[in-house]
Amino acid sequence: MKESRADASAALRDILKDHFLVGAALNDNQIAGKDPGAVAIVRRHFNTITPENILKWEEVHPKPDRFDFCAPDQFVGLGAWQGLFVVGHTLVWHNQNPRWLFEGARGDPELLFSRMREHIHTVVGRYRGRVRGWDVVNEAFEDDGTWRKTPWYTTLGEEFVARAFEFAREADPDAELYYNDYNLWKPAKRAAVVRLVTSLHARGIRVDGIGEQGHWLLEEPTLHQIEATIVDLAKTGAKVMITELDIDPLPRPEELVGADVGKHIELTPELDPHAEGVPEDVQRKMAQRYADVFSLFVKHRAVSRVTLWGVTDADSWLNHWPVPGRTNHPLLWDRLGQPKPAFHAVVEALTRTASAGA
Ligand code: G3I
Repeated sequence: MKESRADASAALRDILKDHFLVGAALNDNQIAGKDPGAVAIVRRHFNTITPENILKWEEVHPKPDRFDFCAPDQFVGLGAWQGLFVVGHTLVWHNQNPRWLFEGARGDPELLFSRMREHIHTVVGRYRGRVRGWDVVNEAFEDDGTWRKTPWYTTLGEEFVARAFEFAREADPDAELYYNDYNLWKPAKRAAVVRLVTSLHARGIRVDGIGEQGHWLLEEPTLHQIEATIVDLAKTGAKVMITELDIDPLPRPEELVGADVGKHIELTPELDPHAEGVPEDVQRKMAQRYADVFSLFVKHRAVSRVTLWGVTDADSWLNHWPVPGRTNHPLLWDRLGQPKPAFHAVVEALTRTASAGA
């Protein structure tokens, strides 16, 4: 993307400095320095960054005896250069793993635990003191609160979560450690996560934060459901983070609410209504929705970070999921790197809140 013109708008991180960290996920091009326009937005508006893909197991540990730290080193270097709070995403997940990880390990807990331990000690240890927080375990539950039957769970049982957090703490005692998931606004899923984190805390196992990813729609979840989520997660004593915020204005079948990347649907014109641009009424709904959720976030001291899942609309994974090939518009900057009405609505809402509270 070409360098966007100097962005004269107020800086989000300044407006939010008394509330929480604000940032975005960076893609491979941005980390490699090939997207100066997006990096200019990061430098002006954000104080935290998360890697979208380059620290996932298949990228950083593609073979049993090979680690690839080129892109992660660039990412951590970018964070250090800009004095940003660098987040590591993600250590233990059921997606984007190399084939070898579970080969020969299903039914062999000790082998799989040793692979997990080596991965976490090597990756977290390399960035000790530089990556300040880690998504240690990602998406361990189904929406109904049952354990997701991943190879991690079927081979190791519930204990895989505790061991992952213990390995991460051994590798970097000073890093914040997070459990990260989507749809925690669904009561059964949220209750399962609260039970898990409470039980880990009772065993003296540190879980410093819980991430609700925030892959939301224009009207779902409701503000009441989001607030109930923040309040319930905060009761565990962990920090609450909105770790992958985007608001999808496009039509979505109910069964695909959330972020289960294993599901896809075929592209049809009806599912891609804004390929030529976003109509005024949708811009207004997006602006109101973003202003409402950010106003809710600043209301709760427990919220310690909000990370957008991408910098501009052109970067969003929602151009490829759940309908590959759509033109989506879920973020605060448009495809040309210009702030959208939703960005200005957030600034106005937060400025209004600040002056009301002054
Ligand atoms: O790296 C390959 C490339 O070599 C190949 O040419 C290309 C085309 O097939 O695919 C590339 O891999 C893609 C990868 O992103 C890196 O760009 C995968 O196909 C694609 O499925 C993958 O999508 C990522 C998705 O996780 C799937 O796991 C998205 O970028 C990423 O935004 C998304 O992020 C997840 C969080 O990590 C966890 N929470 C849910 C969130 C949304 O799914």
